[in-house]
This record gives sequence, C-alpha cells and structure tokens, in this order.
Amino acid sequence: MKDVDLNKISADDWDEMNFPRPEKQQFDDVVERAISRRGFLGGVLAFGSGAAVMGTAMLKGSTALARQADRFAFTPVPTATDGTVHVPEGYGWQRLISWGDPLFSDALGDFSQDTGGSVEMSDRVFGENTDGMELFLIGERQVIAVNHEYTNRRVNLPQAEDGIPRNADDVLKLQNLQGVSIFEVAEGENGWEVVLDSPFNRRITHNTPMRISGPAAGHALMQTAADPTGTESLGTMNNCGSGRTPWGTYLTCEENFNGYFGATGDVAVEGLAAEGRDRYGLGADGWGYDYHLWDARFDATGNPNEPHRAGYVVEIDPANPDSTPVKRTALGRFKHENAATALADDGRVVVYMGDDERGEFIYKWVSRDVYVPGGDTSTLLEEGQLYAARFNDDQTGEWVALTPGVTGMSEAEIAIFTRIAASRINATTMDRPEWVAVNPVSTEAYCCLTNNRNRGVRGNAGGDWAPAGGPNPREVNHYGQIVRWRPAGGDHAADTYDWDLYVMAGNPEVHDDAYAGSGNINAGNLFNSPDGMAIDSAGMLWIQTDGNDGNEGDFAGMGNNQMLAGDPATGRIERFLTGPYGCEVTGLCWSADRRTMFVGIQHPDAPFPEGEGMLPRSTIIAVRRDDNALVG
Ligand code: FEO
Ligand code: CA
Ligand code: CA
Repeated sequence: MKDVDLNKISADDWDEMNFPRPEKQQFDDVVERAISRRGFLGGVLAFGSGAAVMGTAMLKGSTALARQADRFAFTPVPTATDGTVHVPEGYGWQRLISWGDPLFSDALGDFSQDTGGSVEMSDRVFGENTDGMELFLIGERQVIAVNHEYTNRRVNLPQAEDGIPRNADDVLKLQNLQGVSIFEVAEGENGWEVVLDSPFNRRITHNTPMRISGPAAGHALMQTAADPTGTESLGTMNNCGSGRTPWGTYLTCEENFNGYFGATGDVAVEGLAAEGRDRYGLGADGWGYDYHLWDARFDATGNPNEPHRAGYVVEIDPANPDSTPVKRTALGRFKHENAATALADDGRVVVYMGDDERGEFIYKWVSRDVYVPGGDTSTLLEEGQLYAARFNDDQTGEWVALTPGVTGMSEAEIAIFTRIAASRINATTMDRPEWVAVNPVSTEAYCCLTNNRNRGVRGNAGGDWAPAGGPNPREVNHYGQIVRWRPAGGDHAADTYDWDLYVMAGNPEVHDDAYAGSGNINAGNLFNSPDGMAIDSAGMLWIQTDGNDGNEGDFAGMGNNQMLAGDPATGRIERFLTGPYGCEVTGLCWSADRRTMFVGIQHPDAPFPEGEGMLPRSTIIAVRRDDNALVG
C-alpha cells in the first residue's frame, strides 16, 4: 500500500485498492447494456422541447437562442494551462482569503512558508481545501460559511517528510485545518476583506462537539466509551459540498469520512456493521492521515462504532457562534456531496443529495412537517422520509422510499447503512453523483455525474452491477454528464419524475462517437468532470470542474479546471473562468447585492496565489464586473 503517493491518490482509487470492486462480464450483461444504450439514444431523440441532450447544431440559427444571447453577459475565455486565474474581459478578480490567513487577530503573522503555520493557531486561521460555501445575510452583516474538505499533507506539513504526520501535533494541525470556517466579510476601499475578530467568526474542526439527531441517535451502533449515550460526537469530517436551509442554516456534507479511520488490530463487528465496513471503505489504513496512530478515537480496533458517527449532513447556525452543530442522521449516511434544498408545493422541505462514489446513488429527503417562516424548524431535517432514485431508460424515474418494510432494516439501520438500504431496493447506480442544484425559476434539479471509469466494467462496493444505460450511457466514462429531472406535476415532493441529460461532456476534436459529447459541446467550451454547480437568481447554471487537466489525449484542448455558465433553456454553455494548473474549481456564492461572486480555488499545484517559490494555497477569490453590474 505504501508504494503509492498518498498525497496524490484519489479517495475512490484508495478505496478500490483496499476493496477491489467485482468485475462482471457475463454475456447477458453485454446484451443488457446494448439494449440500454439503444433505449437511451432513442429516448434522447424523442424527448421534447427545451430538454433532451441539446446540441448547438440543433440550435444554430434558432430565434430562441438569439433572444437568449444576452443571458451570457461575458465574452467566453479560452482554455489556460498556466498558474493563475483568468476571467472574461470586463471582469476582475481579487484574493479574499487563503489557507493560513487569520480569522482572528491573535493569528496575524502566524503563517509562514517554512512551517505552513503553527499547530497552536491552526484553528484560528482559514483552513485548507476550500469547498462548498454559502453567504448569509445576518441583519446587515454578510457572513460566509465554507468547508475545508481535506488537506494536502506535503504542503500543510512542509517540515514532515512526504507530509506524513510525525506526532500528535501534526495530526492535530491537520484536524484543525479541516472542517468549516465561518467569517464575516465586508467591502471596503481595497475590495472585499475578512472582518477579523467579528463575533460571527468561528472555526469548526475535526474535534468540535456535535449533537447527533434523528433515527440513529442513541442507537447501540452509535455508542462509544467516550459517549455511551450515542448522541454527542466530535468533529465533522471531509466537508465537501454544502447547502442552505430556508431558515438560514448552513448544511455541510461529510464525504470521504472513511479515510480518517484506521485499525491497529482486529475490529470486532458483525452483521450489518461488518458489511458496512466494506461498503463504506473502512480498512486498516486511513487515507494517509495516520490519525489512528496518534489519536485513539480514530482506531476502529478500540472504537468500532466511531466511524458510524461520520458520513452525515451537519446543520450549523451561522448566526449563533455558540450553537452546537447537529448531525442530521435522518438524511442518511454516505459520502455526501452536497445538500440542495427546495420547498414542495405544500411547504414541506425537500433535500436532494448525491453519494459521490463510482456506482453509488442519488437520494431525496422529504420532511413530514411544512416550513413556516419564523416557525419551529426543529423537525424538518429529523421527521420525514428518505428516498433513493431509480432511473428508467425511458426517461422516467421514481423515488423509492427507504422504509423498514422494503429494506428489512430498522429506521436506525437505514440511517447508518443507507447505501445497503438503497441497494436492497435496486436504486440506480450512478456515475459518481457530485453537486445537485435546484433551479429557483423552474421546478427542476440538476446533478453533476462527474465521471466513472468503472461504468460497464465493475460494480460498486456493494456488488451492484453498473451497466451503461439510462442517465449513465457511456462505458468507461472519463468525461461525465449532467442529468436533470423534472418532478411530476411540478412538485418536488412527487414520487416520480422525467429526466434528461443537460449535457454530456466529451471531446469532439478527438472522438466522433458518444465520447464526442452531446451536441452542445464544441471546440470553444471543452471541459471534463463537472462537479460543483449552482444556479443563480436568474436561472443560469454555473458549472465547476474537477477533472483531468493534463490537456492531452482524451483531454486535449480542455486545459485547466474551470467554471462555465450554461443556459438551461437553450443548452448553450460558455467558459467563464479558468483556474491555475492542478486546482479544482469548487464553491460558489454571491454577495448580498449579487455584484460579486465568490469562487473557490482548491488544491492548486501552481504556486497560487503568491507566485513562484511560494506554497500553493487554496483560496477564495472575489469576481466582479468592472462596471459593477450584477453577476448573477
Ligand atoms: Fe469532494 Fe465529490 O467532491
Ligand atoms: Ca466535489
Ligand atoms: Ca470531484
């Protein structure tokens, strides 16, 4: 295991090294795949207006497109392979905050290129790997809540060989650089700045006390020696995408939580808990963090239930820095990407969520009670029903309720081993569901299916087979696609929906088959691996990428990771921003007046933002128009 570069291997690849996925090659499946593919292509051609997999060829000369042209208020930027950010002419960007920058004045000057900052101040500064973020208007104050997904150990521990933690302090520093930052921002003469020492400023780390709510709270599988009640855990892990509730709280989503747990000996679990260890990728070694060697809480040998306390959506009140974050187990335990909320026609709360791993599923939560502004919201993420998506090849789909009756599992077991419950109802294996975005001006939602090299080759970790077909139409899918669904009757609470593909990324310069992508991909907007996504108040879709930026072979002409804008109505997609090499562009929110967009630049390899010879630092940038017009 140690001959791989743990600083570079992806979470999925690490999991698959430890838990090889089943290969499946029976003749029947080949036939099934072929039929599915025909079904998909037929469906696309048959789909109605404003939908289908749209092509610029179809759209050329269209009056609809001409009318919509002004929705792209920028001149698209070309690809880039350099070490900085590019935005369209007439726009500019500035750095807001980077890993190691202080949120509190006692941490001023703590960061240094030699040390990457001290362990003492590591929970007083902006953490590493900025990801999902939301801006909250609290009175007149603008407060950003933002995730710190994981760490880049060689960069964050520059004095440790290969970034391998040398002691408990190194582990504590890594734990502190992850989690969530909450801080106030304000616009002054020099542009946007963090308000040091604002009463809203707060760091939440891998050690912050949390309350566990919902069906799993108190269950025997959640109890540990340190918390025999099973209702109080420490820390939120691998915070990837985000969401926000109508009542003004922040939702942070725990993704590759398994990577923090190891085991120095045997782990005494059986039944579902043993099955769960394989399904969630819990092995002897963490993903290079070595927490379990220095912090016994992360050693599953002595604490077999500790991993059951991570993998959830966590609700945080950004307006109250003393509040205890709440782990909402009712929304299920899996590798949560983000949590996109909507309101059903009757006011119930709907949350769409993806499980980002090859061949895992898309989920939906519907609350029992309705949201009443100013009313009691305490049950809305606690009492209700969790569903998993089943996509049919005829471009319909259904949400299947994960109930004890259909899964043979208790409510608590469904909450803790959600993947196993969804496998039991034959949910559709997807090409790594990343962000879901809900359109505020039309009743529809979008999900980035970022890529899946195992499609048609290997099943998921539970052995569910993943043939090409439906919304995952291509085997060995290195490019990704975006699926869109429209709930029946225009109501997000509906049990059924119609779906189509908004775009299939691809490379028409290299391929002339399905790997060329859908018709709305052209030489001017090439990209791969859509990941982050948000829809602005005008209904424009913003797509952020986390893909192969090698710029050669299948990926020739795609350049660095980037952000694009798409028009849901026409299918047109144009490139808005390019990031420095090695980075992922992830995280997007707007200032209250919508004249600034805040964009996350995660894990650049380039010495961004300070330049040659300096450490690469994950950074939030502020983008605005030179004429101060709206940007979303
Ligand atoms: Fe953390 Fe799936 O991206
Ligand atoms: Ca992501
Ligand atoms: Ca990704």
